[in-house]
Amino acid sequence: MTPPRLPAVLLTRRIFPESERILRDSFTVLLPSGRAMSRKELLSRAAPAEGLLCQLTDLIDEGVLARAPRLRAISVCAVGYENVDAAACARRGIMVANTPGVLTEACADHAWALLLAAARRVVEGDRICRRGRFQKWDLEYMLGKQVHGAVLGIVGLGRIGQAVARRALGFGMRILHYSVPPPGPFTGPDAGLRGKVEAVSLTRLLRESDFVTLHVPGGAATRHMIGAREMARMKRGSILVNSARGTVVDTAALQEALTGGRIAAAGLDVFEGEPAVPPGLRRLPNLVMTPHVASATYATRHAMARLAAINLVEMLGSKPSRAKLVVSPPTSPRCVAAASGRP
Ligand code: GLV
Repeated sequence: MTPPRLPAVLLTRRIFPESERILRDSFTVLLPSGRAMSRKELLSRAAPAEGLLCQLTDLIDEGVLARAPRLRAISVCAVGYENVDAAACARRGIMVANTPGVLTEACADHAWALLLAAARRVVEGDRICRRGRFQKWDLEYMLGKQVHGAVLGIVGLGRIGQAVARRALGFGMRILHYSVPPPGPFTGPDAGLRGKVEAVSLTRLLRESDFVTLHVPGGAATRHMIGAREMARMKRGSILVNSARGTVVDTAALQEALTGGRIAAAGLDVFEGEPAVPPGLRRLPNLVMTPHVASATYATRHAMARLAAINLVEMLGSKPSRAKLVVSPPTSPRCVAAASGRP
């Protein structure tokens, strides 16, 4: 007897061996010809795929979906999934899942790394030491911004925003937050934060915070949410951290605010149009940058790949409801979940 045909799943990039093994146990796994697939290769190989495991750098739009008539499930190896046209997937009855939860703590750690580095001029100091320019301790040398006891403004109090807030309690900070109101996804802080964070308007948050950190999803709804007008409202000398999506901040306005001293410093892990980093930003001494690595710890990236693989197994098996769905099965009354919003 011939064994039953296993569904074909296409990977746009190789993942870790133990996660590929999870897929191999249930599927015929179609791997990229190199380490990662170009869009051209994706388009040319999508036809047999019933499942797709993609990265946040893969644009999954109508163009791809039209080439993949058998596609039933897409697993995004990231919490943000604005690279996938969720509405088009819902129309075609394609489920979509992402990897929330497993990257929360690593991402919160990284937001704090950027906040502390920007506040205490860590990168500038490192450069001075390496270049042999540290001459003498001086009372007024390289003064930074006090973190302990300051006011922290969190824009987007989802999973990561809340993990950032929990760390802020240890720094004795007053915590303000602004979360997109209903029908946005915010359901209130977890028990441990209740009474310790204050919900305010975005305007008030910008006006009162010494540090503003962004944790909203990307996509059209949050594009340039922090632009020239918002930066003009920020407290003079405050610091902005963006480890959410580059599109949330208007780069030109940020450059202007950092150059003109409206805000003292910034920490960025994400960029509009990344991986290109605008030359104007590269020249700014009061800007600390990392190349979109907030979730990049060994443990977290392995956990993300594993969850992405499990999500695909569950979506294409009999238990799609156990996957971290952001677009539900076509039989569900709730076909398109609200754009995650809880990064
Ligand atoms: C990373 O940016 C992610 O969305 O997981």
